[in-house]
Amino acid sequence: MCGIIGYAGHRPAVPLIVEGLRRLEYRGYDSAGVATVQNKEIELVRAAGKLAALDEKLARKNVTNSTFGVGHTRWATHGVPVERNAHPHLDHEKNIAMIHNGIIENYQEIKTELLAKGYEFRSDTDSEVLCNLIAEGRKHNPNMLESISWALNQVEGAYAIAVVSIDEPGTVYAARVASPMVMGVGTGENFVASDIPAFLPYTREVVFIEDGELVKITSSSWEVFNVETLEPVEKEIKTINWDVQAAQKGGYKHFMIKEIFEQPKVISDCLAGRVDQAKNEIVLPEVEGMEPPERLHIIACGTSYHAGLWGKYLIEQWAKIPVEVEIASEFRYRDPLLAKGGVALAISQSGETADTLAGIKLAKEKGLSIIGLCNVVGSSVARESDYVMYTQAGPEISVASTKAMCSQLTALMLLALYWGKRKGVIDATTYSRAAQDMRSIPSILETALPAMRSRAQELSREYSEANSFFFLGRGLYFPLALEGALKLKEISYIHAEGYASGEMKHGPIALIDPKFPTFAMALNDELFPKVKSNLVEVQARGGEIIALTNPGVDLDVEHRWSLPEVWGPLNTFIALPALQLFAYETADYLGKDVDQPRNLAKSVTVE
Ligand code: F6R
Repeated sequence: MCGIIGYAGHRPAVPLIVEGLRRLEYRGYDSAGVATVQNKEIELVRAAGKLAALDEKLARKNVTNSTFGVGHTRWATHGVPVERNAHPHLDHEKNIAMIHNGIIENYQEIKTELLAKGYEFRSDTDSEVLCNLIAEGRKHNPNMLESISWALNQVEGAYAIAVVSIDEPGTVYAARVASPMVMGVGTGENFVASDIPAFLPYTREVVFIEDGELVKITSSSWEVFNVETLEPVEKEIKTINWDVQAAQKGGYKHFMIKEIFEQPKVISDCLAGRVDQAKNEIVLPEVEGMEPPERLHIIACGTSYHAGLWGKYLIEQWAKIPVEVEIASEFRYRDPLLAKGGVALAISQSGETADTLAGIKLAKEKGLSIIGLCNVVGSSVARESDYVMYTQAGPEISVASTKAMCSQLTALMLLALYWGKRKGVIDATTYSRAAQDMRSIPSILETALPAMRSRAQELSREYSEANSFFFLGRGLYFPLALEGALKLKEISYIHAEGYASGEMKHGPIALIDPKFPTFAMALNDELFPKVKSNLVEVQARGGEIIALTNPGVDLDVEHRWSLPEVWGPLNTFIALPALQLFAYETADYLGKDVDQPRNLAKSVTVE
């Protein structure tokens, strides 16, 4: 969590850093700050609240044109989100400014030692402790590089830090362990940041920083060292083909609605190069080198977990591989029984989710191979995995995940078909129908989305005053019901619960009354008659129903929402955006901060 950026170059640093923070604000937004150095003094500006509060403060101050500095947007871990806890932090003599993403686990012991040496602290944060430890290191070491290494070798926990000091104008240091960091290599300027969009307008040349590496950048040079030994580390520059536009709103009111509307393209991009059109065959070079697993453990969190639950249905049905799907934060602490030689599939949009990474570590220790299904290229999940399949959704900025899930479902479907075929267990008609029809989904969805949005608008106005919602589905639509409920609650703050339709009668139906609406997935599949009976039970208790269904389906509910019907499981790709649109329109109508819902952050890099 938290977004960090460091810059050393030829442009005025503060506006550039603030713009970079704007593109990182999805990582946390409870306070923000920047620090530069001018005339042997650190200039520090910080503000509680969103970046707009920092903008206002900067407009009132006369910041200098220093061409290097650091900036931070925070998601609180230690200390309440107020200005004194905002980053950058200064050491007690105000010679060093540091920004930090992560948690220093042994900060209390270090703080006690520093207090005994006369250090004073102005915040409640673990980060300020580390900044002062670097200052202490400066007393015993000839330069900043060695002081930072000295300090970092004493801390336990996770960090991505960037540091400037009055001692070394024009230089920014950065280091990471278990928190993301990338370096951008420009012409006459270099960058470090938590994520690529921060510096994308200036360079596409990227170096991925690994755990235990310490970086030194100036306007004209960059070097990477091993943090313990200070031996130089050889790094490779990679060119990223991300589009700057893709990291901007492109005329939409929010990133979330833009990302919902990007889903047709996301499906096409995820299929590109993976379906041989001439042979109507799935080709997955990413997992070609491995045998289809005998057993698969899917580990993920939140929306990615829901994608995993959906994937289980298809992988079991088509590839006949038993699949267990686990919430990563449970998996990591429950000492799971994992057979050596098995396979774990970690699903993560960001590739930086701490619980998912810990799940990968555990699975590796137990001898499993890891497939990483993630969106962010070069992310920690990608680097920790034996096989990586990128979902190709492009940058997802809105905190509520939409297009990433769509891409995960596409990739899971491809895996189910690919393994089914390789094992020779999938029925030939199903295989060719799925491989064929998947390719038409982008255009069908593209055509359907505007009308779906209008329907979502009508329904959201009618139900915006509801205090609670049920989301119901069976089979493949049960994970979608969970996802529909998650989307609605996280951005509109309306209480919502997702249930398997058949579970209602085992307790939850007691809650039904005329003011407790149900959003049901009643699509035209073999389970429809069962869903219909469950809905009749809800109606008998006075509950109102919105039902996602298909034309011609025999269903009598308050609100039918008819979606174009496609083949079999592919209907999921039409139903998912409907759920997302309903949540979006409701939250927007209620005036909520759609892209940055309260208490949340985009990538959850803490436990
Ligand atoms: C919900 C949402 C979260 C994430 C979860 C996992 O809209 O975005 O539930 O899905 O935090 O994140 P990743 O996929 O980055 O591991």
